[in-house]
Amino acid sequence: MDVLVAGGHGQIARRLLRILAAHGHNARGLIRNPDHVADLEADGAHPVLCDLEHDDLVPHIGGANAIVFAAGAGPGSGPERKQTVDYGAAVKCIEAAQATGVDRFVIVSSIGIQDAVHAGPMREYLEAKGAADDALRTSGLSWTIVKPGVLTDEPGSGTVDLSTGSGRRDPVSRDNVALVLYHVLLADNAIRAEFELFDGPTPAADAVQALLPGSGPVNVL
Ligand SMILES: NC(=O)c1ccc[n+]([C@@H]2O[C@H](COP(=O)([O-])OP(=O)(O)OC[C@H]3O[C@@H](n4cnc5c(N)ncnc54)[C@H](OP(=O)(O)O)[C@@H]3O)[C@@H](O)[C@H]2O)c1
Repeated sequence: MDVLVAGGHGQIARRLLRILAAHGHNARGLIRNPDHVADLEADGAHPVLCDLEHDDLVPHIGGANAIVFAAGAGPGSGPERKQTVDYGAAVKCIEAAQATGVDRFVIVSSIGIQDAVHAGPMREYLEAKGAADDALRTSGLSWTIVKPGVLTDEPGSGTVDLSTGSGRRDPVSRDNVALVLYHVLLADNAIRAEFELFDGPTPAADAVQALLPGSGPVNVL
């Protein structure tokens, strides 16, 4: 597989790129900062320089079998960058996938989107993430929406819990998120599925295999 990870120097993204490279896939990380090139090369990944907010993405997609959107404006950013990165850059990637015929698209979303209106300072972030998910659901692409819980840097257990609409705010390690993203990329039954992701008892590959294929929000775990 040739996989292009948008936000390629992000903490989840680098973990995913390392897994992909270790399994012999062509792992490409889309980054905006030339200082990050060496880190990606050390991960076994191929850096692709492109600013998601300001550049045309189409020339950089070429040959990808799948795109993973793992970028984010980050906690220190204001409302404008929620719009230009968490929403806008995701939509740019979706549109670039459509324009270049890349059918498979996986987005790193978030828990809590259904309660965004009550999320206080998180509201703008969650509304931007929710709007990006909406754009992907209606894109016609073969999508998967992965909604991690509270991210931690704990070593990955390799075991997870997938659920939907739970309202939980439980943790999940970035290692486990990256591992689930990897298995999602390999699993046709994960197409048009969306789910919350927490640390839990089930091996990641088994949890992904148990996803129901088909019709998105109607047909999820
Ligand atoms: N924190 C949580 O508990 C939580 C929970 C659920 C979901 N999430 C979501 O999980 C995702 C990934 O998390 P993470 O911890 O891996 O994030 P991260 O380490 O902050 O990585 C985000 C990456 O996005 C890149 N980026 C931002 N703007 C860009 C642009 N214009 N062009 C290219 N790249 C750009 C950043 O690049 P630079 O290094 O150049 O800035 C950074 O490498 C995010 O979407 C986040 O919203 C977080």
